[in-house]
Amino acid sequence: MARFRTLDDLDVRGKRVLLRADLNVPLKDGVVTDATRIERLAPTIEALIAQGAKVVVMSHFGRPQGRPDPTLSLRPLIAPLAKAIGGRDVAFAADCIGDEAKTVVGALRPGEVALLENLRFHKGEEANSPDFARALAELGDVYVDDAFSAAHRAHASIAALAHLLPAAAGTLMEAELAALTAALEMPTRPVLALVGGAKVSTKLDLLRFIIGKVDTLAIAGAMANTLLFAEGKSVGRSLSERDMADNARRLLALASSRGCRVILPEDAVVAAALEPRSAARSVPIDAVPEDMMILDVGPRTVGLIGAALEEARTLVWNGPLGAFETPPFDRATMEIAKKVAELTQAGKLLSVAGGGDTVAALAAAGVTDQLTYVSTAGGAFLEWLEGRELPGVAALAVGDAP
Ligand code: 3PG
Ligand code: MG
Repeated sequence: MARFRTLDDLDVRGKRVLLRADLNVPLKDGVVTDATRIERLAPTIEALIAQGAKVVVMSHFGRPQGRPDPTLSLRPLIAPLAKAIGGRDVAFAADCIGDEAKTVVGALRPGEVALLENLRFHKGEEANSPDFARALAELGDVYVDDAFSAAHRAHASIAALAHLLPAAAGTLMEAELAALTAALEMPTRPVLALVGGAKVSTKLDLLRFIIGKVDTLAIAGAMANTLLFAEGKSVGRSLSERDMADNARRLLALASSRGCRVILPEDAVVAAALEPRSAARSVPIDAVPEDMMILDVGPRTVGLIGAALEEARTLVWNGPLGAFETPPFDRATMEIAKKVAELTQAGKLLSVAGGGDTVAALAAAGVTDQLTYVSTAGGAFLEWLEGRELPGVAALAVGDAP
């Protein structure tokens, strides 16, 4: 991977630092329901404050289609952000560029913090407009990007702006890139990938890339049904993508030609419907009743994946194993989450997980803090697992910068 400048390479004393954050957090009735992204950003702000910088935080929020939308204002984030940095004041500019922003930023003294209104209130942000990037650049002397979870977007505050000012990765971006590099680029082998979720069709690129990288690939969730169907198994009324059978067979052939061992479910938890507390039972995978749905992997498969985890030194995990939001179909996901946590805590496994559902499942299992790294990125994490270059990462590279 390319080298990056970090905060250590920047002299920020007395300077205005434009800090690209991802404050795109879940908000309900004006209240933040999961502050993880804010809490993980705080150390970068604290470090900049400690060095006497004037910190100008900017972020997108939701998808306002390039015009102001009061329901997508960043105002409700002022208080949570202030709380995350020890109760310090956070000034607010009601527009992210122009006179309003200049006045607010101009009033900052070293060690003070301002938050700019939603970047996506301007069309130029998503268009990666050079003019919009220049308008942002007027507000800062240096640029720091701590928004890995938005790094798959070639937007002005992520791509164009990084080339206008001295740029560096913040501590969160650094940690995220270090974890992903340790998991996929320079891993300790054997490497196990555990991929679940609903559809093969949305993860074809990911599976193809992963097959070339890992020693073992365990596939679970409804997407496994598609592979089982392609292998001629009956999956009853289970969610599956029958039109993906050819693709599924090609993936399995690719795995065997690349020497990647594939673990597919050998048994399944089935029920008549996806309903809480439905009557569920485990059956061998070639005995799925025609009128039933596969809603989780069975105990034998949990054992197989558990054994693969014990052999592995590195794990990359994306996607739940079953319909984990609806107990009892959360069992396999919870058991595997706990096993991953145990092995990681015992120093036997480097574990990296990410994606919205996976993060929710790990939180439900109460083990988020016990993995090596849990990424709060959704789309960016997936695109990384597809082997794609992320614009926000490429823009920070030293030397071979675009
Ligand atoms: C996210 O929440 O996944 C990021 O903030 C990116 O948001 P977007 O999908 O609206 O670009
Ligand atoms: Mg998203």
